[in-house]
Amino acid sequence: MAKLWEGRSAGEISKIADCFNSSIKFDKRLYRQDIEGSIAHAGMLGECGIISVCDADKIKDGLRGILKDLENGSLEIDETAEDIHTFIELVLTERIGETGKKLHTARSRNDQVALDLRMYVRSEICAIIEKLKALIIAITDKAEQYKSCIMPAYTHLQRAQPVTFGHYLLAYSMMFLRDTDRLSDCNKRLNFSPIGCCALAGTTYVTDRKYEADTLGFDGIVLNSLDGVSDRDFCVEYLSALSLIMTHLSRLSEELILWSSWEFKFIELSDGFTTGSSIMPQKKNPDIAELVRGKTGRVYGDLLSALTMLKGLPLAYNKDMQEDKEGLFDASDTVSACLDVFAPMISEMRANTSNMRKAAEKGFINATDLADYLVKKGLPFRTAYKIAGKIVAECADCGKTLETLNLQEYKKHSDLFDNDLYSEISLETCVNKRISEGGPSLKSVEKQIEFVRESLKNV
Ligand code: ARG
Repeated sequence: MAKLWEGRSAGEISKIADCFNSSIKFDKRLYRQDIEGSIAHAGMLGECGIISVCDADKIKDGLRGILKDLENGSLEIDETAEDIHTFIELVLTERIGETGKKLHTARSRNDQVALDLRMYVRSEICAIIEKLKALIIAITDKAEQYKSCIMPAYTHLQRAQPVTFGHYLLAYSMMFLRDTDRLSDCNKRLNFSPIGCCALAGTTYVTDRKYEADTLGFDGIVLNSLDGVSDRDFCVEYLSALSLIMTHLSRLSEELILWSSWEFKFIELSDGFTTGSSIMPQKKNPDIAELVRGKTGRVYGDLLSALTMLKGLPLAYNKDMQEDKEGLFDASDTVSACLDVFAPMISEMRANTSNMRKAAEKGFINATDLADYLVKKGLPFRTAYKIAGKIVAECADCGKTLETLNLQEYKKHSDLFDNDLYSEISLETCVNKRISEGGPSLKSVEKQIEFVRESLKNV
């Protein structure tokens, strides 16, 4: 396909360089944004009297026809074109003749591509937020289902204190809720139009940038033309938000993988979201969770590529910036696919409540509560902590638990122990007496569920 910049050079670009330089193989996915942007641009040119309203209408109709034909498959993208902007402009001129050549007045591909990309990221943000919402609903519904199911929580992967599965899952609802917030926040800074910055220094035509911004749903215009064509901060912010989503997904994946192992047996993933082994008939592998964990690295890589591409890049447009797209598309597609598969996997997951409870009964998980019992009877915490520690050591030696050590044995350590001890250190008490805000008590968990559901209404 012809070049938009033919004119200056007498010679032709070599085939190998042309192929290397071309971006249409990946930027073709921006065709919709490119056409919408061009329709708004033609409208502005007509409104401002830079071209006649009749020409503007002809261009707009031509562009609408191209969009329709691309969507219904009757027009195929010619991959020998340099990029999607070139392709659409050349097809337009082919279809409507000389008038098509007026479209590129008072703009450049530099502000055009910046515009397309902002519009693309903006719509991806909306789509990813919707997918996050579906995941948060799935996790929070599970939390509600298991709000009374006692399980051990860990520090250093050592049993620490009892919580409920509901409480545990809600920690992830909170993370993904923050992710929606981060994406909306990114959108706030992104939603300013760069079109009209032209190549880098604006134009001598009397244009109306605000008209184009309004038509395309932007909150305003980028105020410095050099910045408008060079800024890819929104890509980095978007990629960072996506990276954190992957961090959260991979942490949850890791838990699901551990919990579904024979060593834990806390949960069972449904057959729909596990695979078998070609040789070991007993296997039920958490491939989906592993793959999500595995894909995290490539999203981080996409973020790092964008940061590195921009590092030290002088103003304004440099061809390096063409490299902003593939990583961005890859990260967006990856996160999107991971969220799509994760929500139903969580919905279909079942908890093995008796195994969770059994695990919570071991490991002296209520030792803190034993110390707190003595504090409530008047001992300073540090003294109580020491006594509880000795009792734990004694139990460990003789193979008993805090629940099975009898009162006489307790009394050897302190006179303050009485029969009420056993109900005070029962797992139910340990969980439900943790009434501090954010804790695992039923009331607190219900409050957290309500918070998540209310927050979702404003996402
Ligand atoms: N394909 C180019 C890109 O993605 C479009 C902008 C071209 N601008 C230029 N001055 N060569 O960055």
